[in-house]
Amino acid sequence: MRTRPLKVALLGCGVVGSEVARIMTTHADDLTQRIGAPVELAGVAVRRPSKVREGIDPALITTDATALLKRGDIDIAIEVIGGIEPARTLITTAFEHGISVVSANKALLAQDGAALHAAAEQHGRDLYYEAAVAGAIPLVRPMRESLAGDKINRVMGIVNGTTNFILDKMDSTGAGYQEALDEATALGYAEADPTADVEGYDAAAKAAILAGIAFHTRVRLDDVYREGMTEVSAADFASAKRMGCTIKLLAILERAADGESVTARVHPAMIPLSHPLASVREAYNAVFVEAEAAGRLMFYGPGAGGAPTASAVLGDLVAVARNKLAEATGPGESAYTQLPVSPMGEVVTRYHISLDVADKPGVLAQVATTFAEHGVSIDTVRQQGKDGEASLVVVTHRAADAALSGTVEALRKLDTVRGVASIMRVEGE
Ligand code: NDP
Ligand code: HSE
Repeated sequence: MRTRPLKVALLGCGVVGSEVARIMTTHADDLTQRIGAPVELAGVAVRRPSKVREGIDPALITTDATALLKRGDIDIAIEVIGGIEPARTLITTAFEHGISVVSANKALLAQDGAALHAAAEQHGRDLYYEAAVAGAIPLVRPMRESLAGDKINRVMGIVNGTTNFILDKMDSTGAGYQEALDEATALGYAEADPTADVEGYDAAAKAAILAGIAFHTRVRLDDVYREGMTEVSAADFASAKRMGCTIKLLAILERAADGESVTARVHPAMIPLSHPLASVREAYNAVFVEAEAAGRLMFYGPGAGGAPTASAVLGDLVAVARNKLAEATGPGESAYTQLPVSPMGEVVTRYHISLDVADKPGVLAQVATTFAEHGVSIDTVRQQGKDGEASLVVVTHRAADAALSGTVEALRKLDTVRGVASIMRVEGE
C-alpha cells in the first residue's frame, strides 16, 4: 500500500461536486483500500469563494482553477463545472500538466469529445466520464469495456432525469409543466439552464456520446435529431392513455440493417404501458442496449441528482487512480468504423397524429387519401365530433419520417383540416 496520497483537484463544488467532496471524505478509508493509496482533496475551484460549503476546509477553496492545475502536485482533476468554457480549457490544461481527468460534462464531451480524447492520448492520461450519461447508472464503462467484444445494434432509453420527472408528474398527478420543472430544479436534477433539459439538448448530448461508443464511430451533437418535450400537452397524455400508452422523451440510436450507417434521435414518443420504459418514474433513467451476442440488456437507476451522480464520479476516480498507480491508462476513444449518420427522414417508425377537421361527409376519405398518396399506411383512426368540427386521431403503420413529414405538409393544405394538433412517434412495440 502506497502511503503518499494521490492528489485530487475538484473543479466545481455545486450539486455534484459537493457530494463528490462529501463521499471522498466520509469513505476515505475504503477508497484508500480499494485504490491502494489514499486520495486527498488538494484543492476546490469555485466561482463564489465566500459561499459556505459544509464539510470543506475553506483553505482548499480557490477561484483560480488554472493555478490549481498548474501548481505541480495534482494527479487527478474532477471537472464538475459544466458547460463548454472554462471546462474545456481546464481539461486541456490538466492533460498538459500530466493530470488525468474525470468529468460529468456531457455538453462538452458531445461537442469536443474527439479533441479531448486526442489530448488525453497525446499526454498519456485518462479521460473518464461515466457520470456524463444517465447519472448513477453504470453504462459508459459497460458499453466501452464489457461489451467491447460484442456488436451493439440498437440503444433506446430515457437519458434525462428532469424531463422524465416532468412527464411523470404531468401523467400521474396532472401537474402543470412549469410546476414540475420548478420541482426538478429544486431537487438539483436540471442543468444550470433547464432549456438544455426540456428542449432535448442534454439528452441529445448523451445520445451522441452513447452512439459513438455503441457504434465505434464519431457522432457529433449536430448529428442527433432533436425535439424537446415542451409541446407535450395534457391532451397528448389523454390520447396516449386511450391507446394504452404513456409519453416519454426517448433517445434512440440504431445501426442500419445493412450496417453501413447509423441514426441518432431524441424526441418524445408514445410507448405502450406494458413496455418496461413506461414504468420508469421520477428522475430515473433506463437504457436498453441490444447487442448481437448478448441480446437485450437493460440498465436502470437514478439518472440525476447530486449523490447518484457523485457515485459515478467516484467510480471513475477509483478507476483512474488505479490506472495511475499501475502507470497505465484505460481505453481511449474508439471511432474506427467512421459510419455516416443518416438524416431523420430515413428513420422508419409509427406515428400518432391528431388533427382538427371539419365534421362533414368525405373528410375522412380525403385524409386517408393524403396518407395513401405519401405511402403511409393507416393502422387505426378515431374520430370524435364536436359542433360541426371533429378531432381525428390517426395511428399509422411503420413509415419513413420523410413520408410522414410530406403527409403532414399536405394535410395542412387541405381546407377541411383546421389544424394539426400533435404529431408523436410511437415506439417500443
Ligand atoms: P452546479 O451549477 O450545481 O455546480 C457548478 C459548480 O461549478 C459550482 O460549484 C460553481 O461554483 C462552479 N463554477 C462555475 N463556474 C466556475 C468557474 N469559472 N471556475 C470554477 N468553478 C466554477 O452544477 P452541477 O453540479 O449540477 O453539474 C455539474 C456538472 O455535472 C455539469 O456538467 C452537469 O451537466 C453534470 N451533471 C449533473 C447532474 C445533476 O444531476 N446535477 C447529473 C449528471 C451530470 P459556485 O458554487 O461558486 O457557484
Ligand atoms: N439535467 C440532467 C438530467 C442531469 O436531468 O438528466 C443528469 O445528467
